[in-house]
Amino acid sequence: MGIEKSYSERENFTSKVTSYFSSLSSAVGLGNIWMFPVLTGLFGGASFILCYVFFALLTGIPVMISEYVIGRRTRTNAIDAFRVLGKPYLKITGFLGLIGCLFILFFYSSVAGWVYAYIGKSLTGGFKDLSSLSMTKANAASQEIFNHVINGLKEPFMLQLLVLSVVAVVLILGVKKGIERLSKILMPVLFVLLVICAVKGLTQPGASEALKFLFVPDISKLNSSTILTAMGLAFFKLSAGSGTQTTYGSYFTDNTNLVKNAIQVCISDIVVSILAGLAIFPVVFSFHLDPKSGPGLLFNTIPLIFSKIPMGGLFMFLFFLLTGIAATMAMLSLVEPVVAYLSNKKSLTRNTAILATTLLIALVGFFTVHQGSYVNSIQLFGLNMSFFDFFNNVSTNYLLPIAGILFSITTGWLMDSVTFHDEITNGGILNENVYMILRFVIRYLTPILILIVFLNSVGILK
Ligand code: TRP
Repeated sequence: MGIEKSYSERENFTSKVTSYFSSLSSAVGLGNIWMFPVLTGLFGGASFILCYVFFALLTGIPVMISEYVIGRRTRTNAIDAFRVLGKPYLKITGFLGLIGCLFILFFYSSVAGWVYAYIGKSLTGGFKDLSSLSMTKANAASQEIFNHVINGLKEPFMLQLLVLSVVAVVLILGVKKGIERLSKILMPVLFVLLVICAVKGLTQPGASEALKFLFVPDISKLNSSTILTAMGLAFFKLSAGSGTQTTYGSYFTDNTNLVKNAIQVCISDIVVSILAGLAIFPVVFSFHLDPKSGPGLLFNTIPLIFSKIPMGGLFMFLFFLLTGIAATMAMLSLVEPVVAYLSNKKSLTRNTAILATTLLIALVGFFTVHQGSYVNSIQLFGLNMSFFDFFNNVSTNYLLPIAGILFSITTGWLMDSVTFHDEITNGGILNENVYMILRFVIRYLTPILILIVFLNSVGILK
């Protein structure tokens, strides 16, 4: 006999479409539009993307499905879920995930702040001079604007506070109202804007070089840090290994096809990332920018694309607005598991939990937000990393994959197979072969692959 299904008074997402959009709204965010191009540039293009897709399929999706299973079965957050499953010692998985969420929020909120700054600047015509400048001058002007945004003393911090206030307000308005409605309308609009940018990118002189960079892999560029980063990015972009997808799974209806949902989210997520790449890299090569230029890549290139488009100012405003909204929705999904956990504990009301969480993020986030200042030059633990890099690296490359191993071991080995079968096939209705393949992947491939990447990255395996 499997573990009893849990029912509760919590609201559920009302349809399969909503399950897809809610999970997608967590997946699509700065990971696609900002981090994916930045890392693709830094780690050599197509070979990195190939590696990313490999890990998305064999580690990201299986962990995401494991989380859905655990969430829907127990109808609770990623920590209490393990108690309901009768494995209280595995609550550590949920805690690792929660710490992962917080670490991500510490730096994610600064980048979201930059996006908010760009929304304001494009609305008030801050980029209008770019179109009349020569290529080199426009490029220099665009970099100047970015440096200005990230290096101020007060502004970056105020922007981060603004982002966090928006997150808090939306959450106080409630899961359903906040998340369901927004994502169904906004995701498609963001998609259309990205298509416009990508089409424009492809008409730039650097397009063929960009296509080569993005799609013709040079396997010799792969090394252990590329592989570790590609795996981390797979977790980060799919929001896997943090308990976020467990929380979403806990709101899914009984007839949601978990495997299909995860695959659809992953494909959409990859398409959005590739579109961002197609928009950005042609500009990089046309303007002879350095693909390895790091966090500023998105912010330096997008204004240059729009300066070449009729009504570019309006489109640019819409682009940053939607990116800002996507980033905010992704943040909702990062804060949600922390809040769900704190408020399930009797002592905190949901609203107090929301305020406490956002306040904590603002306090620690203060240290990540000051790119050009003394704070940023502090090297934590002698690791040669700023606060920003530290939180980014530890959460993405380590916490999420480690929790990922535990999530997959839970569904693959510890949960009884009747329960797992029941969740994957929706009580025997769905395809049996999918279950067989998935079970093999989750039991063996996923945990072993993650382990190999870790061992490889610390030089134990060569
Ligand atoms: N996936 C989101 C992005 O690409 C970020 C995100 C939201 C996330 N929720 C998460 C990352 C949970 C890891 C875990 O921007």
